[in-house]
Amino acid sequence: MPPLILDMDPGVDDALALVWSLAWAECDVCAVMTVSGNVDVDLGTSNALRLLALMGRPDIPVYRGERRPLEGEPIRAAHIHGGTGLGEAQLPSSTGTADSGASAALSDRLRSEPDRYSIVAVGPLTNLATAELNDPGVLAKASEVYVMGGAIHVPGNVTPTGEFNLVSDPRAASIVFESNATIRLVPLDVTRKMRVTQAEMKEGLTDCPAEIRDFLMAATSTPMKIGREKYGYDGMYLHDPLTAMLSVEPMWAEWETFHIQIETQGEFTHGQIVVDERSQPVHQGKPIQVAMDIDRRKLLDAFFQPIRSWRGAKK
Ligand code: BDR
Ligand code: CA
Repeated sequence: MPPLILDMDPGVDDALALVWSLAWAECDVCAVMTVSGNVDVDLGTSNALRLLALMGRPDIPVYRGERRPLEGEPIRAAHIHGGTGLGEAQLPSSTGTADSGASAALSDRLRSEPDRYSIVAVGPLTNLATAELNDPGVLAKASEVYVMGGAIHVPGNVTPTGEFNLVSDPRAASIVFESNATIRLVPLDVTRKMRVTQAEMKEGLTDCPAEIRDFLMAATSTPMKIGREKYGYDGMYLHDPLTAMLSVEPMWAEWETFHIQIETQGEFTHGQIVVDERSQPVHQGKPIQVAMDIDRRKLLDAFFQPIRSWRGAKK
């Protein structure tokens, strides 16, 4: 299985993706890169370092990425993830440090060992696009690039048609999707099927080591509360964990091919995925494999099982 480079903006569900990836035996996380998104990149970097300390993996290098989108102003999501990005959780600070220059580090790795690494990008795509702009063709050196983002046939979550990660930096998304990288997309269509309720979270974490359970319950309480009070549903979506999980086991989803482009200009539609579904031989946009369906119960089991049986850092 290719080593994973996780590019994230932690973020509660980003944190859950990292915890799951570190707990899943087959998964080799070789670097964490942070990017401006849910929270500013300094806070996101500090969260990544704290999470690695919690999971006993301070040896995994963290690279601080871009502070701003390629175009426009950053969008934050403290109203979902809480002011620190990690809900109500209080993690001790880490003594670890991050290197700066995520995009350069990404280029170096991909160039030094082509086709070796998988990238899992669960924040705005600014780091990946910066790497591609500075070093054209480099993203094609990844074995695969898994992207959490966009909405194909469902409404967006920050604009009527746009999803947070792509709307946060449409220009970056467009550069990544137009590169020659092998991309697999995990959009809201499927991540909204990966909702976990508070009761399922409690049950799933039974027998889990106390420090991990306490962290996960405290971190998820904020998005759970928002879901309940603002949107009238019980639980939260595991957008980023699902993306990490599918990067390790693509067979866990049903995939469809869509020809897609990213709208970078639209007044109301910037960051929207435009899908060419016309019945004609030639379509606009690149054909991309998109996850569209999962077996929720099976995937929730696969999410909780390694976390529940986690008993310390993998060797
Ligand atoms: C995405 O937006 C962020 O708030 C989440 O971390 C996830 O990556 C979902 O739209
Ligand atoms: Ca994220």
